[in-house]
Amino acid sequence: MKIIKLAERKKIIRAAELLYNSKNAIALTGAGISTESGIPDFRSESGLWKKYDPDIYSNIRSYIKDPTKFWKLAEKIAPTLFKAKPNAGHIALSELEKMNIIKAIITQNVDELHQKAGSVMVYEVHGNINRFNCFGCRASYTKDQVMRKLKKEKQYPPLCDICAAPLKPSVVLFGESLPTFEIYQSQALAQKADVMLIAGSSLSVAPVCNLPLYTLQERGKLIIVNDEPTYLDERAEVVIHHKTGKILPLIVEEIKRMKSESESESTS
Ligand code: APR
Repeated sequence: MKIIKLAERKKIIRAAELLYNSKNAIALTGAGISTESGIPDFRSESGLWKKYDPDIYSNIRSYIKDPTKFWKLAEKIAPTLFKAKPNAGHIALSELEKMNIIKAIITQNVDELHQKAGSVMVYEVHGNINRFNCFGCRASYTKDQVMRKLKKEKQYPPLCDICAAPLKPSVVLFGESLPTFEIYQSQALAQKADVMLIAGSSLSVAPVCNLPLYTLQERGKLIIVNDEPTYLDERAEVVIHHKTGKILPLIVEEIKRMKSESESESTS
């Protein structure tokens, strides 16, 4: 496990100060916050897109041509996705919401681990793996209904009971539009944010990777916690290239220290 150097310690304190003194802080998360829960990300060395071509496995045009490729990949990673548990990074963000510091999380993740960690105001801009829709008549199915269909009918892709068109998880594939409410709400939140904490994202996929620009345009500050550099590192107030599961809890600890210090000052 990488140790925390003194320079990083100072950045953790600066990040904690920004969040503690913020009025409208939000978080923007990506697949990197879930890798410590066992779910692979997409673009790091061990990422999914290093092994599978996203144009074939995660693009709406190829899905329409041949949905089985997507389903074969989904079948491979589904067990990891469905049994994953929130890690210390997710829990730290849920604590910051409970402390009324983080007002909302905008997540590109479909794994629902923020909600499982207790976060409430979560905007899933790339959808959710636990919901399925029919490609033809838009009928919706739960994950358990689809898993039962797959087991019973052994048919890939599973077909709609109503119109026999293929079912698709409600996750956004390349070439698909994002859920309207979530993306508009995320743009409004980013504009209003005086601090945006970016955790575990390479910031490489639009339109989500542009959300931090809305915050910067309104003179908000960015805090980036990511294992690898991003295109916004030079414009961030704080950049920590380290594991979210390690850094986010340290930021929460620092905020708690500041809180108790200011409470003891006000009572003395
Ligand atoms: N702590 C911090 N950073 C991490 C960790 C970790 N434990 N694990 C991985 N990372 C970093 C990686 O180095 C990488 O820079 O998280 C980043 C994850 O980036 P991506 O794999 O590109 O994931 P993301 O930014 O969420 O991708 C956005 O692309 O393919 C689409 O729909 C998919 O939502 C996804 C979108």
